[in-house]
Parts: sequence; C-alpha cells; structure tokens
Amino acid sequence: MPGFVEKPEPVEVPGLEHVHTGKVRDLYRDGDGNLVMVASDRVSAYDWVLPTGIPDKGRILTRLSLWWFEQLADLAPAHVLSTDVPPGAPADWAGRVMVCRALRMIPVECVARGYLTGSGLAEYRRDRTVCGLALPEGLTDGSELPAAIFTPATKAEVGDHDENVSHEEVARRVGAETAALLRQTTLALYTRARDIARDRGLILADTKFEFGWEEDGTGDGGSGAPRLVLADEVLTPDSSRFWRLDEWQPGRPQKPYDKQYIRDWLASPASGWDRHGNQPPPPLPGEVVAHTRARYTEAYRLLTGLPWD
Ligand SMILES: Nc1ncnc2c1ncn2[C@@H]1O[C@H](COP(=O)(O)OP(=O)(O)OP(=O)(O)O)[C@@H](O)[C@H]1O
Ligand SMILES: [Mg+2]
Repeated sequence: MPGFVEKPEPVEVPGLEHVHTGKVRDLYRDGDGNLVMVASDRVSAYDWVLPTGIPDKGRILTRLSLWWFEQLADLAPAHVLSTDVPPGAPADWAGRVMVCRALRMIPVECVARGYLTGSGLAEYRRDRTVCGLALPEGLTDGSELPAAIFTPATKAEVGDHDENVSHEEVARRVGAETAALLRQTTLALYTRARDIARDRGLILADTKFEFGWEEDGTGDGGSGAPRLVLADEVLTPDSSRFWRLDEWQPGRPQKPYDKQYIRDWLASPASGWDRHGNQPPPPLPGEVVAHTRARYTEAYRLLTGLPWD
C-alpha cells in the first residue's frame, strides 16, 4: 500500500511528547498540553510521500496558513497560540512550528467546493450529485458551481482517500446543530478565501477545514460553553486546490498549481516509474525540485502580496 517511501524518525525533544507523524507534519504535545505542529518539507504525490523534500516548503506553507488565519479571524477564531520554537527544539523549526491549543476535534473533514473536479466530479458523472446534493446538468471537469457547496468527508488513514458523506450522515455523527454550524462556517470561510484568491489571479477550487471545540471557551456570549475553533492548517496548497485563473479551462483536468511538475515528471518515461505498479517512486531531480519550490513561493507571493525572503 502506498505511504512513505522512507518514514522519518521523529526528532526527540526533552519536554515534548511525539504523538504523530503525518504525511507532511510532525505532531508533539508540550508540558502544558498544547499541540506542537511542525511542518516539514515533505511532499506527496500519487498517494506517496516522496523521498525528496522541497526546500522551504514547511516554512512557506506555515507562513501562508498563519496569513490566512488572520484574514479569517472575524469568521472563526484560530487555534494558534504561538510560533516560538519550544525550548530545546532544533533551531530549524523556526518558521515552521505552530504551538496550538489542543482542541476536542470534530471528526469531519469540512470540505467546501466552488468548482467541480476530483471525487466530486466522479460522483456528479454517476449521479448528478455531489455528497448527495443535486447539481444542474451540463457541468464538466473544472466548471464553476452555481454556488459553493459543503461536501463533508470522513478521515482516512495515510494512503486511503477520504470518503464523502452526506449532510445527514454528518448530522447523525455530530448532531444536527453542530452539523449546521460546520456547514455555515465552512461556506463563509471558503467564500471569503475564494474572493481573496480570485482578486489575486488564483482560483480556489476547493479546500478542507478542520474544527475543534475549545472546552473552556468564551462561546455563547461568555457563558463558558464550548467555542468552535478553526484548527489544523488552512488554505495551503496541501489542503486546497488552487488553479491559475489564466490557465483555467473547464472541460479538461486543471493543472494542480503546486505539484504539476512533480506529477508530470513521475508520469513521464524519464522517471522510469510505473505509478500503477508496486514500486515506490524514485527521488526527484533537482530541476523538478526547483520548479516546485518556485510554485510554492509564487503562491505565497501572489496570495499575500508579500515577497518570500
Ligand atoms: N488544535 C488541534 N487540536 C487537536 N488536534 C488537532 C488540532 N489541529 C489539528 N489537529 C489534528 O492534528 C492532526 C494533524 O495530522 P496531519 O494532518 O499532520 O496528519 P494526518 O491528518 O494523519 O494525515 P495527512 O498528512 O493525510 O493530513 C490531525 O489529526 C488533525 O485533526
Ligand atoms: Mg491531516
């Protein structure tokens, strides 16, 4: 089964407990019970975490995520407490670590889509629906939807694909009130981000948010009821599909903004790799790494309007 070509050993840091190695990020818990998320330069394609990293990817996507949290702060509070490197941790965590409030996570991948592609397109072609929501005839790969839709999914383990679920199924799992809140918040966040991105020449085709409850929160007018908090990373190319507006052409698959060079090279004879076989993918050549790094810095620059170093 696809996964890591080489699973990295977690760095040992006194005072931090390693809790998880994700495809891209490493998670620790600190002495105060907070979650320490460290973004690496790892990159995945075709369900594999590749043996070659993209220099600065962890720092670029962390900075981008933090920038988005600020753009969205009035719609949902963020889980980030600090970006300080914890005492005793490697200095190279600087810029790619976020110390976050540990939340009671809601086990729903809150996906919003404004355009049709991927698993949504597959379901549409079969049933004219996405996550059970009826859509008009005549849509094709990359079409803009008449309105953004909430298409929740349940989490899968590394290598598996998340499974789309209906709104009713979400309500059954988390309660009707929470399901409605997730839907409303997800669509508000997506709409804001989509408009910001479009102004800057990028299409935000879809994205995934995760939310959790802050138990001793100030929700409900300061009553101490749990407060819904935006967690994880937000609106990075790892959690979202961005397309260039000037390259967007419905009716064919759109180019993935960040991983286009990687996928093209892996699928080409030059890589010598068969993605349908059972061998892990080979290391990436320097030129593919450089092009991909340039894509991440370009996305950062276009979206934020700030230079990358
Ligand atoms: N504030 C938070 N409190 C508690 N858990 C959180 C918080 N923010 C994010 N998480 C959880 O931390 C984990 C981050 O893991 P990560 O995304 O790196 O790997 P993964 O989800 O296992 O796999 P993938 O690499 O496919 O995303 C997720 O389970 C996410 O739900
Ligand atoms: Mg994840």
